[in-house]
Amino acid sequence: MTADEMKKQAAYSALEYITTDGIVGVGTGSTVNHFIDALATIKGKIEGAVSSSIVSTKRLEEHGIEVFDLNSVNKVAVYVDGADEANADLSLIKGGGGALTREKIIAAASDKFVCIADESKFVDVLGSFPLPVEVVPMSRSYIAREIVKMGGQPVYREGFITDNSNVILDVHGWDIMEPMDLERKLNNLVGVVTNGLFAMRGADVLLLGTESGTRVINPR
Ligand code: 5RP
Repeated sequence: MTADEMKKQAAYSALEYITTDGIVGVGTGSTVNHFIDALATIKGKIEGAVSSSIVSTKRLEEHGIEVFDLNSVNKVAVYVDGADEANADLSLIKGGGGALTREKIIAAASDKFVCIADESKFVDVLGSFPLPVEVVPMSRSYIAREIVKMGGQPVYREGFITDNSNVILDVHGWDIMEPMDLERKLNNLVGVVTNGLFAMRGADVLLLGTESGTRVINPR
């Protein structure tokens, strides 16, 4: 089974968590693309979606799923999104696709966060995947110097502009033993818009695609 087949399996398993007649929060990435295709098979049963990126919005609309502005929605019962890494507490690293800010906003605004991934994303310690940090462009060098003081190795994601017109530093070299602590410290740097640690608001359930079917993981 390929990684993409495992992503697809996890994505279709997430349909079980969708509540009838509600608004579904939709993340971004290749796993979520499978989820959007899955959601299209039950589109008559949902009111619509809120989307974390321009690319997911386009795919949802191509399937005829109405996309609402988060400001016009009172309740998002379920948010479904992928991850670059997840640990046993269901703290995540996200933002490989650069959509971390809108993803974090919708995750915060949702009652339940269902994370979908192939089994390679489940790790003991977060940090092998470089941690994305979205920053206001003029703060890039300053933030990079502060991150170096914190022991990280920031790499500017050249040529990439986020949907919010900001830039991304991908931070290498951290073994993240205290994800909430690091998430807070990065948030406190002036110029940081969002960092890709989803620990304070981690996932509520992780659906992992594996060779032997979808593994359901609840937080430790
Ligand atoms: C995008 C994300 C994605 O969820 C993450 O990068 C995983 O992507 P994929 O499903 O393609 O493996 O955080 O900002």
